[in-house]
Amino acid sequence: MISVIMGLQFGDEGKGKITDFISKNYDNVVRFNGGSNAGHTVVINGNKFKFHLIPSGAMQSNTVILGNGMVIDPEELISEIKLLKESNKKIIIKISTGAHIVTKMHKFLDKKEESIRSKLNIGTTSQGIGPTYEDKYARTGIRMMDLSNKSILKNKIETIYNMKMELLKDSLYNNENERNRMIDELYSFGQEILKYMDYTEITINNDYNNGKNILFEGAQGGMLDIDFGIYPFVTSSNTISGALSTGSGFSYRKVDKVIGVFKAYTSKVGAGPFPSEIINDNTLRDLGSEYGTTTGRPRRVGWLDLPLLKYTIMINDVDSLAITKVDILGKLNKIKIVTKYMLNGEEIIYFPKRLEEFDKLELEYKEFEGWGSIENNEDIINKGYSALPEKMKRYIEFIEDETHKNIDIISLGEDRKMTITKQIFN
Ligand code: IMP
Repeated sequence: MISVIMGLQFGDEGKGKITDFISKNYDNVVRFNGGSNAGHTVVINGNKFKFHLIPSGAMQSNTVILGNGMVIDPEELISEIKLLKESNKKIIIKISTGAHIVTKMHKFLDKKEESIRSKLNIGTTSQGIGPTYEDKYARTGIRMMDLSNKSILKNKIETIYNMKMELLKDSLYNNENERNRMIDELYSFGQEILKYMDYTEITINNDYNNGKNILFEGAQGGMLDIDFGIYPFVTSSNTISGALSTGSGFSYRKVDKVIGVFKAYTSKVGAGPFPSEIINDNTLRDLGSEYGTTTGRPRRVGWLDLPLLKYTIMINDVDSLAITKVDILGKLNKIKIVTKYMLNGEEIIYFPKRLEEFDKLELEYKEFEGWGSIENNEDIINKGYSALPEKMKRYIEFIEDETHKNIDIISLGEDRKMTITKQIFN
């Protein structure tokens, strides 16, 4: 079985939890985009594990692969590998020779670019993601394989510095000694991680030919995709299922199943249009502890948005849906779902792309009643779907009817055992 798991909103849909839940069925888990901007929390028997680079499936699979499409902060990677090995001693880690390296200079540039954007800032995670992808596409980027060679590192750091001198002029990197220190540091990080370096596209294709089950784990969500998200309030990589091919060297034609994860409501960190946002009421944010895993920033929170969800289902070609945080949403007395986008009095059938259109959007909603707290409900854990409150089933089945997709996984709490499946994945 070859599957890919994707986020269908603005990131933070709870992919980590769902990936961890299904990853026991897979031999390899592969990440193919993004870097430390992602943050996923996996809770097992009350213990919390937070990762940014290592895929969330790492706790239960045999092998994790960090593909060429990723941008990797080597210092963060070293600390995550240590943490992972403490809990999964047998894990095999492979990192693509072609993955790009995020340096401290890239993180500086991320903040600098945001300050120049001023009011139009994106609200990035400051993890150096944008500037590292900029260097990749400018063909000056540092790749994993370069960490073994100081003269290549020197050459590349100096080229990046010369190209971005204007942005770097009031930073410590204006000083050549500081740049040399960074080169030494990158080289020493390389000494620790190069043993994991691998021609991962060959490994993944060989594993496929040998009948292994592979799970591709997407980072962020469809609405942050550089092409299909709400540009420019997006990340710098493609975050849709098709990106697995360019980000790992494995053909999308061999994928059996696309699993789309969405939260029962919507959340977003960073700036930009958010049609279904709930303004001036933090109840849902507080109930759902909606604070960024990477930045700690309070997330913006809103109702479930069906036009948005239908769009990302289409772009990702989703086969099966997973819904998260249904327990949280049910604690509200009244719940809403956005059913239609209207512009100048008419329903629009496309997903808006112009920022001015978002200002003029009118939304239509459908209201639902809350289903109350389901904490410690052993009946649900034992009996599954049939024991869910009727009002919750009404909410879930309405989404299924509207999207024409089955919601096969329902997450009702952060622990692994608080997950029920409807038909598959048992
Ligand atoms: P960047 O990826 O750090 O450049 O940030 C670009 C935008 O994507 C910002 O609005 C971030 O808040 C958002 N973003 C990036 N990664 C994630 C994620 O994993 N979850 C939620 N938002 C994210």
